[in-house]
Amino acid sequence: MTETEINTLKSAIHTIPDYPKVGIMFRDVTGILDDADAFKLTIDILADKFKDGGYTKIVGTEARGFLFGAPLALAMGLGFVPVRKPGKLPRATYMQDYQLEYGHDTLEIHQDALTELDNVLIVDDLLATGGTIEATTKLIRRLGAKVTDAAFVISLPDLGGEKKLEDMDLSVFSLLQYA
Ligand code: PRP
Ligand code: ADE
Repeated sequence: MTETEINTLKSAIHTIPDYPKVGIMFRDVTGILDDADAFKLTIDILADKFKDGGYTKIVGTEARGFLFGAPLALAMGLGFVPVRKPGKLPRATYMQDYQLEYGHDTLEIHQDALTELDNVLIVDDLLATGGTIEATTKLIRRLGAKVTDAAFVISLPDLGGEKKLEDMDLSVFSLLQYA
């Protein structure tokens, strides 16, 4: 990425202190979504970075993982599989509990969404503690699919997510890092 590209994306991201709880610096990606140039740049960079990975599917986690995962899947000519919060997927699911920077939750995937023939790229807007993508990775692997890479628009290196995911044999790529 060029300095200009980094600056274009960074200037589209708003930081809101103490949201949703005191002490959290919330990095808001809605400013990328409503800026057509910044949104296209984000998807173009990710599509180029991962074009030779031999992926069969992109998995994105509710809700903000959908915002970048689905357009990236379309750009790369891949299918998109949603991992969702509880009670939203209509067919048989597997469930996984996880911890968040500011709480805990459960994620689900359709049991028939992936097979051992799939090679998955995970996409989310932001990597904080890594709990969301650790749970997502467990769900993908439970279906027998291969997953070795996770892509983020933003990572917060001080929160330890990168180490947590690398300990699960996932390579982490992020466009922007915020200390
Ligand atoms: C946010 C964000 C990531 C996750 C990162 O989602 O979109 O998925 O937190 O945190 P972690 O690395 O500590 O797990 P959130 O659960 O707030 O849900 P949302 O996408 O529905 O807003
Ligand atoms: N999800 C988890 N931590 C976050 C943060 N600091 N900003 C935006 N989304 C988040």
